Amino acid sequence: MQKTVNLRNRILGVNRQIPLLDGSLGPYVNLDNAASTPPLVDAVKALDRFLPYYASVHRGTGFKSRLSTVAYDQAHEIIARFVGANPETNTVIFGKNTTEAINKLSYRFPVSPDQVVITTMMEHHSNDLPWRAQAQAVHVAVTPDGRLDEEDFDRKLAQYAGRVALVAVTGASNVTGFLNPVYRLARKAHAAGAKILVDTAQFAPHRRVDMKADDHAEHLDFVTLSGHKMYAPFGTGALIGPREIFLQGAPEYRGGGTIDIVTLDEIYWAGLPDREEAGSPNVVGAVAMAAAAQALMDIGMETIAAHEEHLTAYALEQLAAVPGLKVYGISDPARANEKVGVIPFNLEGVSHFLLAAILGYEGGIGVRSGCFCAHPYVVHLLNLSADEAESWRTNMLAGDKSNMPGMVRMSFGCYNNTADVDRLIEMLHRARRGNYQGDYRLNRKTGEYTPAGYEELLADYFLLEGTQP
Ligand code: ALA
Repeated sequence: MQKTVNLRNRILGVNRQIPLLDGSLGPYVNLDNAASTPPLVDAVKALDRFLPYYASVHRGTGFKSRLSTVAYDQAHEIIARFVGANPETNTVIFGKNTTEAINKLSYRFPVSPDQVVITTMMEHHSNDLPWRAQAQAVHVAVTPDGRLDEEDFDRKLAQYAGRVALVAVTGASNVTGFLNPVYRLARKAHAAGAKILVDTAQFAPHRRVDMKADDHAEHLDFVTLSGHKMYAPFGTGALIGPREIFLQGAPEYRGGGTIDIVTLDEIYWAGLPDREEAGSPNVVGAVAMAAAAQALMDIGMETIAAHEEHLTAYALEQLAAVPGLKVYGISDPARANEKVGVIPFNLEGVSHFLLAAILGYEGGIGVRSGCFCAHPYVVHLLNLSADEAESWRTNMLAGDKSNMPGMVRMSFGCYNNTADVDRLIEMLHRARRGNYQGDYRLNRKTGEYTPAGYEELLADYFLLEGTQP
């Protein structure tokens, strides 16, 4: 296995100490990168250089507007390069995040009422609900351990032969980290006359995205990205896809920036990407995202992948030695190359909400717990009976989340190291032995646990001017 890399000095705030429950200070161990990554210094430095020149884009004639316009256009070019898209035939559309990008595609991709969109049971809700709303969505099954059931994919393609408009699938699961065979799926989708969208929100920060040539059988027709998961948390994401699709019909958001000419009777839409980026765009976010993408390319996605694979194997090895701990999906360290570094688990006898609280308040470890915006998938992985799932839903609808099923999820970024894993493992042993300090109280409404009597010191670390702690 390749030697690991140390990218910690590329990450802003990585050495910040944070307060722990016992009153001491400790390092913040961020194992919640699947939710959001901290900023790359490269992105922040690019903003430091850019912000003094920031001005409106496209319609301004001043120097700063001209400079901002060029920077914004270049951000589109860098993102196209990051995903290996041909910029002549594809467009990069900036928006808020992957959720917005997929929703946009669901409005803009032509699906007739008799056609279907094939999605999967392992999707984040953001690559499921938009398709349910705009089309007849069909869900491919997953195996008991959470891998995409490719035989079921083949069956569904055959079952809906001639009627499949789009396959919408994640590149990597945000729950188990499973990598999907997207190129094989692309080949099959194209042979069936369909296009393919790959949600690369969880994939792009960890593996190289390559859309491949437009005429390649394995071409990825559409991909989506979230800046906040690729070290540029400044409110930008992107949808990349064929220009011809977005030149058809009208954008779903209309208004400033989207048109060439408007009369009281007629509208002439602008070219791309302007017609799809209504209103003043988030130029700052786009510049930061492009700077982060460029930094990732310079570091090398293969280098990042090798480092994270090593870390994932190490973590799986260590987790296996914690009594009563169950890892979902892949638990064999030798299979770490089949996933990105996202590991969900539960500790026998400790609710996931409580465990996440102990890790956070006492270990200084950031994780996420619950169902990770993938309810059908998590219910499946937990192997809940229909009755259990129903009782949980009934309680939740009645405002009680205390028995909400779920898992704790650790997820790596390129800067994590084995010391981060060791800290987690130490805390898991402590939690298992009941050797934690806090007197945790459950808030039934949110399901969250907080230590009784603990005074949050957040305001000592950050407080907006004009506000009170
Ligand atoms: N979609 C993000 C996650 O999986 C927020 O945590």
